[in-house]
Amino acid sequence: MAEPRNVNELRKVIDFCESEGLPFFVLGGGSNVLFPDDGFHGVVIRMKAFSNLEVNDNIITAGAGVLLKRLINISQREGLSGFEPLIGIPGEVGGSIVMNAGLKEREIGDLLESVTIFSYEGDLETLAPSELGLSYRSSKIQNIGIIVEAKFRLIHGDKEKIAKLIEEYLERRKSTQPYGTKSAGCIFKNPAPDLSAGYLLDKAGLKGFRKGDAMYSTVHGNFIINLGNAKASDVTYLIEEGKRRVFEEFGYQLEEEIVRVEDPWESYT
Ligand code: EPU
Repeated sequence: MAEPRNVNELRKVIDFCESEGLPFFVLGGGSNVLFPDDGFHGVVIRMKAFSNLEVNDNIITAGAGVLLKRLINISQREGLSGFEPLIGIPGEVGGSIVMNAGLKEREIGDLLESVTIFSYEGDLETLAPSELGLSYRSSKIQNIGIIVEAKFRLIHGDKEKIAKLIEEYLERRKSTQPYGTKSAGCIFKNPAPDLSAGYLLDKAGLKGFRKGDAMYSTVHGNFIINLGNAKASDVTYLIEEGKRRVFEEFGYQLEEEIVRVEDPWESYT
C-alpha cells in the first residue's frame, strides 16, 4: 500500500511499479470495491493525502482524497448549491469522479469544471469534463491516468435552504436504503434509466437471500450487506445468483456497478 503525499511521490510510486513490473490499483475511499479474499498481489495506491480544499467564489478545488461528505459540508457553509443530492454517498473526490457517482437528479460529473490528472505518460493534464468520457456510473479516466484534483462549478444559494435540501436528501436515502450498514452501495447498474435493478432483484425474491455473512438487504434489493465476516466469495456467489434469477424471471442481464478487483497473481499461476 502506497500513500503518496504529492505528485512527486505519486510519480515515484508509478515509476517503481513500472521498473519492478508490479501491477497497481488506485483505491479511492474503497466504498464500491470488492477485493478478492486472497488479497491483491501488487501495489494499492491511496490518494488520501491529496486533501487540499479551496473555495474561490463559486468554484471549489478539491484534492482527489477529499471525502465527498467534507466537500458537501464546506459547500453548504459557503452558501454554494449543487452537491445536495449527493449527500450520503461515501467515498472520495477521485473515486467518485472515476465512477461518476450520483443519482437520477445529479451526477458528480454535472458539477465539474475541470479535472487534473497525472497521466500514465507522467504528465499533469487539466481536462474539461467533455474529455473524460463521463456516462452513467462510468468514465474513461482510468485509461488516461490518476486524478489528482478537481474543480467544481457551483451556484450561489441560501445557506439555510441548502442545509434543508441536504437534510431532505439524506432522509430519503435513510428511508429507502440500508444506510449505516456495511455495504458497497448498489451492486448492479440499473438496466435502463427508469428500471431499477433493486426493483427487479426484489421482485425476483432476492431480498434477505444470504450466503455466509453476506445478504441481499431487506431494505433495498440492490445492496448486499456484510453482517459480520462476509467473504468476497460469498458476495460473488450472491451476485451471480442475483444475475441468474433476474435473467430467468425478467430477461434482463444485470451488470455490476461495483468494481470487482482481480488478483493479478491469478494470471501468473
Ligand atoms: N424498489 C423496489 N424494491 C427495492 C428497491 C427499489 O420496489 O428493493 C422500487 C422503489 O420503490 C422505486 C424504484 O424501485 O419505486 C426505484 O428505487 P430507488 O428510488 O431506490 O432508485 P434505484 O433506481 O433503485 C438509484 C441508484 C442509487 C441512488 C438512488 C437514489 C443505481 C443503480 N442506483 O437506485 O444509487 O442512490 O437511485 O434514488 O443507479 C449507487 O449507485 O450505489 C446507488 C445506491
